[in-house]
Amino acid sequence: MNRVDIVDVIDAAVPLKKAGANHIACCPFHGEKTPSFTVSPTKQFYHCFGCGAHGTAIGFLMEYQGLTFVEAVEDLAKRAGVKVPQVERDSPQAPRPAASQYELMQQALAYYRAELKKSDTAITYLKGRGLSGEIAARFQMGYAPSGWQNLRAVFSDYENSALTTLGLTKKSEEGRYYDQFRDRVMFPIHDQRGQVIGFGGRVLSSENGEGPKYLNSPETPLFQKGQELYGLFLARQAIRTKGCVVVVEGYMDVVALAQSGIEYAVATLGTATTPQHIAKLMRQTDDIIFCFDGDAAGRKAAWRAAINALPVLTDKLKLSFLFLPAEHDPDSYVREFGRERFESEAKAALPLSAYLMQELSSHHDMGTPEGRVRFLDDAKPILQQLQAPKMNLMLRKRVAELAGITQVEVESLLQLEAPSAPRKVQAKAPRRAPTLSRKLLQLLLIKPDLAMQLDLARLPKGGAEFEALARIIELVDANPLINAATLLQSLHGVINEQLLSELSGELLSWEDEEFDVALEFDGALRQLIGASQQDEVKKILALAQERGPQALTAEQREILQLYRKAVLPKNSS
Ligand code: UTP
Ligand code: MN
Repeated sequence: MNRVDIVDVIDAAVPLKKAGANHIACCPFHGEKTPSFTVSPTKQFYHCFGCGAHGTAIGFLMEYQGLTFVEAVEDLAKRAGVKVPQVERDSPQAPRPAASQYELMQQALAYYRAELKKSDTAITYLKGRGLSGEIAARFQMGYAPSGWQNLRAVFSDYENSALTTLGLTKKSEEGRYYDQFRDRVMFPIHDQRGQVIGFGGRVLSSENGEGPKYLNSPETPLFQKGQELYGLFLARQAIRTKGCVVVVEGYMDVVALAQSGIEYAVATLGTATTPQHIAKLMRQTDDIIFCFDGDAAGRKAAWRAAINALPVLTDKLKLSFLFLPAEHDPDSYVREFGRERFESEAKAALPLSAYLMQELSSHHDMGTPEGRVRFLDDAKPILQQLQAPKMNLMLRKRVAELAGITQVEVESLLQLEAPSAPRKVQAKAPRRAPTLSRKLLQLLLIKPDLAMQLDLARLPKGGAEFEALARIIELVDANPLINAATLLQSLHGVINEQLLSELSGELLSWEDEEFDVALEFDGALRQLIGASQQDEVKKILALAQERGPQALTAEQREILQLYRKAVLPKNSS
């Protein structure tokens, strides 16, 4: 595959300036006024010295555009003008949509948009709902006129089954094709690349409209409801700037919020919030606020969202729930009370933990032992599913408090495994000369094939750096031709993220071609192994002194003998 230059990829999204060997810009991942976001054309990766964001072209597309790995690879392939042969899709059963399917959707959209301009009733309807022309244009809203075969004007090949596959037409039992959307205001649904993958169509008035209030595209090769979020493509930038996302239930909620200046809202598409939805949002922000309608259905939807979030939750993620007064949905609320009020309510939304406990305890009479037993039973599946370790521990403590027993009793009663030990938080290390294993890591990231020379058994064990070396050896073993950029990308989520970020920053400070990487590597390796043997010897000597030579294992004795042979002649002279 022709290599796509990372500078081109990033420059298209974030205009770069050349600065020496590298290119720089203000970091798109955090707010800053002086550029510390650095892209290296020779090393083909980016690093932000401000926030530590780093990665390759693929990583950039995943982080910035919110694409999945496969989508990012496909995107790069497209830029390089190459067809990706057989990349596995996220869901293997879904055949890869043909590019022309996107084109058909785009043509339908253009038609609906043009029709909206012509329809006074539709325009009046949208105006009546408080929407400006700009907002309608921003969301590419349209109108499907009444009549059965309007799309014939768009598609000469109207009887094409592709249109039916895409949910634009339907086929009657008599074999006649007709438009799926008739006399409806159209909300196009975009994927994260901005391509139209589906539509939602709303009747103009609830009295004389036929069918459901909202008609949505069926599941098609382009459109899977459980994965897509309405408005995400448009909201991305605002989500980043604001640092949070608001998840609502309806198309109109997203549009009305944007109309009032809240551009960081997305909606699920008439389905429950799925773990995939949450995972998708987690790539954009770690502050997710659910704002569902104040009615019973909204409360139910909130609970399902909370439960579905449990398996993908991390300790970093902040999930909260905003409950509006029963008579409101976000659309009506923001229109009545305005942006500021909505935003301050959103800020004060109920955190997941409090919400879970409140719901669980409100269903039982916590004043009686029987009620508290039921409460414990209800809490069990939640504690079992909640993946975030610190959060899980906090909840166990809270459940114990509410049930009037101890945390240990909760764990044994509910047969919960002991909470997984919270991962050690790495304190930010002060800048100092790199340790030898750090240097090895840096050199490996420049020239991955050096990993073939490494024998893990001979390296000093323990620590994040040792772990990273071990993972690199595995990756290079599995793919000996792996290049530096791919290796860096593959280490995401595999090794300690802070270490990875530090390494990528350090890498940028190495001048290209300035030294012999292999030679440096060799030297560092020798020193490291030597140092670790000396450490080992010191330990053995201390042990022998403390407990006597007979306390040593055969192996330890052998090490000492080798050491004496190597060192003592010099010392005794
Ligand atoms: P609501 O019934 O709450 O409608 O449905 P709404 O969003 O307030 O819409 P307006 O204000 O009356 O225009 C919420 C969401 O549920 C899905 C749609 O995605 C809708 O936005 N829905 C609702 C359907 O898919 N079909 C329906 O018939 C109704
Ligand atoms: Mn509504």
